[in-house]
Amino acid sequence: MLAAKRILLIIGGGIAAYKSLELIRLLTRAGATVVPVLTRAGAEFVTPLTVGALAGSKVYRDLFDLGDEAEMGHIQLSRAADLVVVAPATADLMARMAAGMADDLAATLLLATDKRVLLAPAMNVRMWHHPATQRSLAALDGDGVLRVGPNEGDMACGEFGLGRMAEPVGIVAAIEAALGGGLLAGKHVLVTSGPTHEPIDPVRYIANRSSGAQGTALAVALRDLGARVTFVTGPASVPTPGGVAVVRIETAAEMLAAVQAALPADAAVMAAAGADWRVANARDQKMKKDGSGRAPALEFAENPDILATVSKGAMRPALVVGFAAETDDVLAHATAKRLRKGCDWIVANDVSPATGIMGGTENAVTLITADGAETWPRLAKAEVARRLAARIAAALA
Ligand code: CTP
Repeated sequence: MLAAKRILLIIGGGIAAYKSLELIRLLTRAGATVVPVLTRAGAEFVTPLTVGALAGSKVYRDLFDLGDEAEMGHIQLSRAADLVVVAPATADLMARMAAGMADDLAATLLLATDKRVLLAPAMNVRMWHHPATQRSLAALDGDGVLRVGPNEGDMACGEFGLGRMAEPVGIVAAIEAALGGGLLAGKHVLVTSGPTHEPIDPVRYIANRSSGAQGTALAVALRDLGARVTFVTGPASVPTPGGVAVVRIETAAEMLAAVQAALPADAAVMAAAGADWRVANARDQKMKKDGSGRAPALEFAENPDILATVSKGAMRPALVVGFAAETDDVLAHATAKRLRKGCDWIVANDVSPATGIMGGTENAVTLITADGAETWPRLAKAEVARRLAARIAAALA
C-alpha cells in the first residue's frame, strides 16, 4: 500500500532522529519514495550522508539554497508528496508550526503544503507537558494535523514519562492509515458535537456547557482511522478539526436537518448536547423591559430527538451510538436511554460539576451495549475517542 507513495520526511533535532533512519529503511523497503528534509538541529544528530544514502535521495536542508529553488522550489517540494511526516517533531518545530512561522525550510514546507501532515512528537516529558507545548498541540489538533505518539517510557535524558517518539513500525502504521489504508477506509461516519443555541429573541439564546471537546476528539480519531467524517457541530468552544466535512448549525432543529441531509452513513455518533427544549414563544424582535417590573414568561416546546429519530428512521446507519450525560444514577438512566432511543450503544458519563468532565479535558465513561456495561478508566478525551473509534471500526468490519 506504500508502493509508489511519496513521503516528505522532515527530521527535527532530537535524539530520536536516529530512529528516523530505521523509519526511512522501513518505508523504502515497503516501496515508498522518501524525500528527506533535515533541519539544522536534526543534522546535529544524524548526518546528511546517512540520511541521503538510506533514502537514496538528495537531502533538502536550506531554504536559501538556490540550486534547490531552481530544481524544485519549496512550494513544489511541499506539494509533490502524498504525505508530510515530521519525525521527530520537536517542541520547537511544533511551536513554530502552530504559530505559522516560516523561518527555515522545514517550517516553510509545513506552511506551504496542501497535503496532510503527520507528526511523531519526541521530547523530554516536562517539555511535553509544558502548557506551551500543550497549546501548540491543541492548535495543531484543531488544524487537522495527524499525530502518532508520543509513547511513555524511559528517556535518553534519564527521566521517565510521555515524550518518547513512537516506534518506527508504529509510525509506518500511522502513515498507512493516513494514506487511506486505515481500518475505517471507505466508511462514512457522521458525528454530532457541541451544544445547540435555542433563541429567545434575536440577541438571546438558551445553551448548555458542552465545549464540543469529546465530539471533536471523536471526529479526529475516526478520521485518523481513514473514515470519511461528516461533523455536524453546534457553536462549540473548541476549534473544528481539519480533514473532515464540517456542517455548522445553531439549533437542534437545524442539527436534525443537517444530520438527515448527511445520511446515508455507516455509523452515526451523536456526541452533541442538543437542547431538549426550544423556546416556543421566541420573539422576532429584541424583548424590552416594559417598566412594570414583571419578568416575561418563556414557554417551551420539545425539540426533535435526533438520536431517536435517526435510530428509528428508514436510513438508519448500521451502528448508531448515543451519549448520555447524567448527573445521578448514571448506569440505570443510560441503560434505559439506550432502549428508549433505539441506538446500539450508549456512552454514559457523569456530568455533575464535581467531575469537571463537561468542558474539561478528561472523561470517565461507561460503554453500554446489548451485551452489558463496560466501565473505562478516567482518560483524556482524545484517548476515549481513540478507543471508541477502534471499537466502531471493529463493529463495522
Ligand atoms: N440528543 C439528540 N437530540 C436531542 C437531545 C439529545 O439526539 N434533542 C442525543 C444526544 O446527542 C445524546 C443523547 O441524545 O447522544 C442523550 O442525550 P441526553 O441529553 O443525555 O439525553 P436526553 O435526551 O436529554 O434524555 P433525558 O432527558 O432523559 O436525560
